[in-house]
Amino acid sequence: MAASTAGHAAAASTAVHAPASAAAAPYAWSRREFIKGVIASGVTVSGISYFAGGCTAPTTTLIGGVDRLLSLNVNGQVRRVDVLPNETLAMTLRYKLGLTGTKLGCDRGECGACTVMIDDVAHYSCSTLTHRVRGRHVTTVEGLVGPNGELHPVQRAFIEELAPQCGFCTPGQVVSAAALLRANPNPTRDEARAAMAGNLCRCGAYDHYLNGVLRAAREA
Ligand code: FES
Ligand code: FES
Repeated sequence: MAASTAGHAAAASTAVHAPASAAAAPYAWSRREFIKGVIASGVTVSGISYFAGGCTAPTTTLIGGVDRLLSLNVNGQVRRVDVLPNETLAMTLRYKLGLTGTKLGCDRGECGACTVMIDDVAHYSCSTLTHRVRGRHVTTVEGLVGPNGELHPVQRAFIEELAPQCGFCTPGQVVSAAALLRANPNPTRDEARAAMAGNLCRCGAYDHYLNGVLRAAREA
């Protein structure tokens, strides 16, 4: 649990819980930047309402200088979606694109249930503004299946190691592990523990998940 607590603290400060090797990734947004983005979008929208004499009817084309109709690359497909200026990626994925494999636990960058990959690096989608991923490649747990629907090696390894208990944290654990193995195909146990530290498991199956990560690395 100590490792998870450390990861929790690290994740809360960065909203990215990728291994150190990925720390230089272009999307290492800080929580401060995320909050500033939300506040800025809210201020802009409320300012427009004021100057428009209280006319707050939303438009799907432009609000506060932000084009709301986006083309997002999700799981290799371009999806057109109407996104509010302060909308998080988790909300867009789950409630607009129907990708409910991405779970919402804390909705505040603490638990890792909402983990997705952005350009192959694990991120908390609850702490990422959807407008910030334009032009990037988003991968959810649904995007990890093989071309014929076969499970990802990490998913098979987790099953073999009996890692999922209630299963709520499992999609986030799968995505974090898959991101780790893309960056580091043969991690040590300590490296895997560090990479997975941003994913909490209320059932306490941490060792099973770690065993699964190392099994997937061996069998890949
Ligand atoms: S970290 Fe995003 S839902 Fe908990
Ligand atoms: S398996 Fe239940 S929270 Fe992790």
